Amino acid sequence: MNSQNSPHFNPPIQQTVLRYPDNQHYQLRSADASFPSTDTTKQDLVAACNEPFLYDRIFRERLQGKPYDRDRAEYFLSWAREGWRNNAWFVFAVLSPEGKIVATIDIKTDQLEGAEIGYWCSEKSTGIMTNTVLALCNIAREAGFRHLYARIAPDNARSIGVVSRCNFSPAGLETRNGVQHLRFNKSL
Ligand SMILES: CC(C)(COP(=O)(O)OP(=O)(O)OC[C@H]1O[C@@H](n2cnc3c(N)ncnc32)[C@H](O)[C@@H]1OP(=O)(O)O)[C@@H](O)C(=O)NCCC(=O)NCCS
Repeated sequence: MNSQNSPHFNPPIQQTVLRYPDNQHYQLRSADASFPSTDTTKQDLVAACNEPFLYDRIFRERLQGKPYDRDRAEYFLSWAREGWRNNAWFVFAVLSPEGKIVATIDIKTDQLEGAEIGYWCSEKSTGIMTNTVLALCNIAREAGFRHLYARIAPDNARSIGVVSRCNFSPAGLETRNGVQHLRFNKSL
């Protein structure tokens, strides 16, 4: 049953996202129990997450400089399924027209009044993230979320560009665990 205090999703969720500027059709899909956890899926994650630009921004510190490997990909997919199973966090993958995972985006909590989002995309598929965030905002609004926010390192111009194009509003600096991020809020 729907409740005002927790999100109401109906997975699996699948939606077409157009890549800018060539309008190629990518698929945004919930990474729930129905999402394939095959060797190919894991290889796609390993390939993308070890791309230097993405690895340096998201994984280098977290993995203490070790490569993003198959075990990590397997853990990620099972953590994604667990979130959907418990209606607690909500991970989506973006698939290219060839069916490769080229990006992920997540809503990190079930807090309808303000949940954080996070995302990355492969250098080979730039041009999908703005439209992916816009699609996610619609999906989140339909599920009952009223506000979303993003925390972005001050030097991450590309990510600041994404949330700005999606009409998130700058809300100043936020310090968590001694690290400063710019915060951007959006009402849905
Ligand atoms: C941040 C990140 C997701 C941005 O990806 P991206 O592909 O550059 O983002 P977009 O698809 O929104 O934009 C790419 C380009 O397409 C353009 N574009 C995309 N959608 C558009 C739209 N709907 N309308 C107009 N322009 C658009 C943008 O203007 C941008 O052009 P530019 O490179 O000339 O500035 C990517 O760089 C990344 O994964 N970085 C590493 C991980 C990371 O930083 N994650 C975020 C942590 S907070």
